[in-house]
Amino acid sequence: MVVVAILAAGRGTRMKSNLPKVLHSLGGRSLVERVIESVKPLAPSRQMLIVGYQGEEVKTAMQSLPHLEFVEQTVQLGTGHAIQQLLPHLQGYSGDVLVLNGDVPLLRTETLNNLLQTHQEKQNAATILTAYLPDPQGYGRVFCNGENVVQQIVEEKDCTAAQRQNRRINAGVYCFRWQDLAQVLPLLQANNAQQEYYLTDAVTQVTPVMAVDVADYQEILGINDRLQLATAYEILQQRIKEAWMRAGVTLIDPASITIDETVQLNPDVIIEPQTHLRGNTVIESGCRIGPGSLIENSHISENTTIQFSVVTDSTIKDGSRVGPYAHLRGHAEVGAGCRIGNFVELKNTQLGDRTNVAHLSYLGDTTTGTKVNIGAGTITANYDGVKKHPTKIGDRTKTGSNSVLVAPITLGDDVYVAAGSTVTEDVPDNSLVIARQRQVVKEGWKSKQS
Ligand code: UD1
Ligand code: CA
Repeated sequence: MVVVAILAAGRGTRMKSNLPKVLHSLGGRSLVERVIESVKPLAPSRQMLIVGYQGEEVKTAMQSLPHLEFVEQTVQLGTGHAIQQLLPHLQGYSGDVLVLNGDVPLLRTETLNNLLQTHQEKQNAATILTAYLPDPQGYGRVFCNGENVVQQIVEEKDCTAAQRQNRRINAGVYCFRWQDLAQVLPLLQANNAQQEYYLTDAVTQVTPVMAVDVADYQEILGINDRLQLATAYEILQQRIKEAWMRAGVTLIDPASITIDETVQLNPDVIIEPQTHLRGNTVIESGCRIGPGSLIENSHISENTTIQFSVVTDSTIKDGSRVGPYAHLRGHAEVGAGCRIGNFVELKNTQLGDRTNVAHLSYLGDTTTGTKVNIGAGTITANYDGVKKHPTKIGDRTKTGSNSVLVAPITLGDDVYVAAGSTVTEDVPDNSLVIARQRQVVKEGWKSKQS
């Protein structure tokens, strides 16, 4: 049985932010959400989040997460003081407590499992996660004997110059036998450089206590400032991109591409440079996306190409070509084999298969049939200043260049709209509509001016 406690009450001074540190976003999810996510597979019996600095904001942000208990630390007197706040809540509890820092967001569940297992097998009173860092600056240093028995944890600010040379650091992830920890917590003293009650002091007051090294030190990166936040993002991206490349996706110039964890790709997708895939996006096999595109919460079916375009909350069916410089948004649905060209915006618009909107158009709240051709510069006037109105266009209809379709309006099947028309009334099937002044030519007009 394990109870999880996550420390999230600190100020996060080094972030220099109005937002509580643990709510800062890392690839679309807050730091603390990621920590909570990493313990989920352990099926803890209770999950307790210790909140304090801007606690209301943290609670509000975490409200939707089930089974999370909030424990208040009204003044922030250090990590040991934070864990002291659990005492009234865990009275009589006889299992283990897994303590995590809310600002260590890249931990893998396997690592936590391994820590727990070692802790239970060895029947330790405390087991802590450690790592050897190339640059241990800012972390507490861990000193062990030859058997990995922890003898001392010294915070960087309390280190002597010699102690600072130790590259083995405390990851801020601990497993405690609660009964043992509960006995020493009230004895903590704040006689250190930061005048804080350190949880690390409690570690060495119980026995036996052991350190377990993490295999990949990148997992335990703590986020204290914006530089570390950026580094964590890079690590996260590296993990995601490596996994997709191994799964058969081509990334051209991977460093310039970003992909959210929530995105799903398929083998033989090619992602070109400067492309960003976000949210619940799915890209099917044979698609070529980019260069220079942003795709968010969209489903792109097989063999579609998208260049220099922005696509949000939309779907595109097989074999369509989009861009350069198209903008699809607000539930645009593009059929199969369509062509959406340069400077075209589609909003809440459904296009039938093999429809072309090739140049300089805005279609809003529009539904078209199949094989429609929208001429260059065709605009739907869908907004009267108060309400949005729909436009319906039948199969095989063609609009001439620079036509304006004033909604609400319906054009039937096989309609032709003359170039430059402003169409305000419905047009039946098989018609030609001309809605503009007839051309007037005044011959010899110039020579009559003197
Ligand atoms: C802590 C460890 C350090 C370790 C590092 C790993 C201590 C004394 N030091 O240092 O050994 O190498 O983490 O990242 O524990 N918090 C509270 N209440 C408080 C103070 C902090 O809830 O009163 C929370 C913070 O919100 C944060 C976590 O505890 O999530 C760690 O606090 P932080 O101040 O970042 O500790 P570090 O100096 O990084
Ligand atoms: Ca920290």
